[in-house]
Amino acid sequence: MTREHIADAVATVRARSPSTPRLGIILGSGLGALADDVAAPVAIRYTEIPRFPIPTAKGHQGRLVLGDLEGHTVAVMQGRCHLYEGYTAEQVAFPIRVLAALGVRTLIVTNAAGGLNRAFRAGDLMIIADHINFSGTNPLVGTNDDALGPRFPDMSGAYDPELRALARKTAREESIRVRTGVYVGVLGPSYETPAELAMLRAWGADAVGMSTVVEVIAARHAGVRVLGLAAITNATSHATPKRPGASRPVASPPPASGSVTHDAVLAAARDIGPRLSRLIRGILRSLRE
Ligand code: HPA
Repeated sequence: MTREHIADAVATVRARSPSTPRLGIILGSGLGALADDVAAPVAIRYTEIPRFPIPTAKGHQGRLVLGDLEGHTVAVMQGRCHLYEGYTAEQVAFPIRVLAALGVRTLIVTNAAGGLNRAFRAGDLMIIADHINFSGTNPLVGTNDDALGPRFPDMSGAYDPELRALARKTAREESIRVRTGVYVGVLGPSYETPAELAMLRAWGADAVGMSTVVEVIAARHAGVRVLGLAAITNATSHATPKRPGASRPVASPPPASGSVTHDAVLAAARDIGPRLSRLIRGILRSLRE
């Protein structure tokens, strides 16, 4: 992945929309509706942008929508690619690098995630405070191009504290209940076993998903500040039943009710979508770029 590849993609996008987006938004599984609120939209299919990875997962439309949203010039990714589709971390990160080269300085990343925190319920929204990259890879592996970012980027404060505070304040004003927590990114595509859920919980993760971490690493590498919002589409805590009186989860298969399907995840995400859109629009109204 070279600077020329990024420049190619940027040239294609600029030819269609000459505006300079300062704000990028990635809409995850079943969360694409916000892109329809963009005013004066220019929608470019990922298939039209050289080397853009094409989503194969259901619930991901694969369009880059440029235009205006709440007074900001935005570039909205309606759908994303995942490592489990067979793309490399570098391919998954490519759109982020294109957004940064287009002028994006702030990125709002959304995803659908399973709740690990036992207090979380399906339908919750979570502000991502931090992440654990358990995907097994990293988009920065290989030769570093110093023009794109440093060899060893700092990942403390990866999820911008000011943006998180703004998200919390906006949620209060809009009467939207939000949680805060740590997101662990896994490779997928299989959902977690009860033993894996117990491990991730013990690590201090509050939500688990198959996206986001690679994109956020690439964004921080490029010096783009990040806000992460997770739609908790399923609670996983019932998948690790406790024996009465036991302090450790029972090492037995989960009850049938503990299972999760992609269709259920998408349905829950569509239910959360309007609230997530309202939260993001509220954040944008107060956001200074
Ligand atoms: N696990 C992993 N990824 C997910 C889940 C889950 O339970 N729900 C939505 N994305």
